[in-house]
Amino acid sequence: MGSETRIIADNAAFKFLVPRRAFTDPGVFEREYAAIFDHCWLYLAHASELSEPNQFLTRTVARRPILFTRDRTGEYHALYNTCPHRGAMVCRERHGKSSAFMCMYHGWTFGSDGHLMTLPGGSGYPEGFKKDPQKQMVPVPRLARHGDFFFISFARDGEDLATYLGAAGDYLSLVSEQGKDGMMVVGGTQEYAIRGNWKLLCENSVDGYHAAVTHSTYLDYLKNANGALGQTAMEGEGRDLKNGHGVIEYRAPWGRPVASWVPLWGEEGKAEIGAIYNELQQRLGKERAERVATWNRNLLIFPNLVVNDIMAITIRTFFPKAPDYLEVNAWTLAPRNESEWLRKYRLFNFTEFLGPGGFATPDDVEAIEKCQQGYAASSGELFNDISKGMVRADSPSYDDEVQMRAFWIEWDKRLAKAEA
Ligand code: FES
Ligand code: FE
Repeated sequence: MGSETRIIADNAAFKFLVPRRAFTDPGVFEREYAAIFDHCWLYLAHASELSEPNQFLTRTVARRPILFTRDRTGEYHALYNTCPHRGAMVCRERHGKSSAFMCMYHGWTFGSDGHLMTLPGGSGYPEGFKKDPQKQMVPVPRLARHGDFFFISFARDGEDLATYLGAAGDYLSLVSEQGKDGMMVVGGTQEYAIRGNWKLLCENSVDGYHAAVTHSTYLDYLKNANGALGQTAMEGEGRDLKNGHGVIEYRAPWGRPVASWVPLWGEEGKAEIGAIYNELQQRLGKERAERVATWNRNLLIFPNLVVNDIMAITIRTFFPKAPDYLEVNAWTLAPRNESEWLRKYRLFNFTEFLGPGGFATPDDVEAIEKCQQGYAASSGELFNDISKGMVRADSPSYDDEVQMRAFWIEWDKRLAKAEA
């Protein structure tokens, strides 16, 4: 990697600079696929999306079409969604339930574990053809789960998922512990695209510094919505979770269906939120329950999984199609067996704040696109500043940038290593 795309990090001088070329250079973009997306553990799906045997879903992960299935025994399989015959995508549905998949081109039919079951005109092929390993659908090299979060890796070798996630794994657990009966992805998928570099969304997703300015409309709206904000002041910390992962964890004045009450929810709501809090305390202990209930988390798992555990919980993943274009998928996660009004509030928030037509995402998209447009002002010799909080490294605030530096250090390390 040329030195013009390396970050400049100098702790003693409180200096952390990212060259703008990292957001615009087509060579960097290709190296990112080779060095990052083709090697790291990447989020695939939540177990609740395939809650029964024979369910399946299809997704594109790092430019590859993937078919994620459960076979009749309930085993999970992540398969490349391409026919071993001549390459057609075998499954063209987004999700569903089926124990077999017939390719639309010549009718080869595969079991939900990817084995070739039948093919038309079999007499045209030699004995044993159907069993040939090359005629079966191919599994992705590695599939692993942390709790109900499934990840895949296109690299045969490398650290296992638990090692890769390290300290970030506990944050996925914290989010998953909210529901006494477990958690589920609710409803559909939010899909949108941004004319900006994917790393801008990584930064933005864990940026506690921008909210007051970028999202002033939303904050004004909450202030004017009777009782939507409580008394809690904004406070919290940014953390480098190593391996490129980072988080901001903070208290905020808005309500959380699990389990921070705001006056908008009335006395009846107060009793229910109190009961949820009590259950959390009994199950998790006082300290952990307080953290689950009253702290918000914006988590970035390197390279591109974001879990925003704020009013609602959003799981968001995204891939670049070009240096200046990315596609986003987002889902909302909720406790199973949540009461109707809390679920309604949660889903309302999922669309109202983080939805592509909500109060936050359009503002964030605008900010990201304006950054990308701004980069055209120079031929790449300018740098972005990510140094906020370096002067107080021992007690980084939630609106400092240590969690973004964690991302950039890993990004830089992986690209430099691939180059070497
Ligand atoms: Fe699938 Fe021919 S390409 S059956
Ligand atoms: Fe934002």
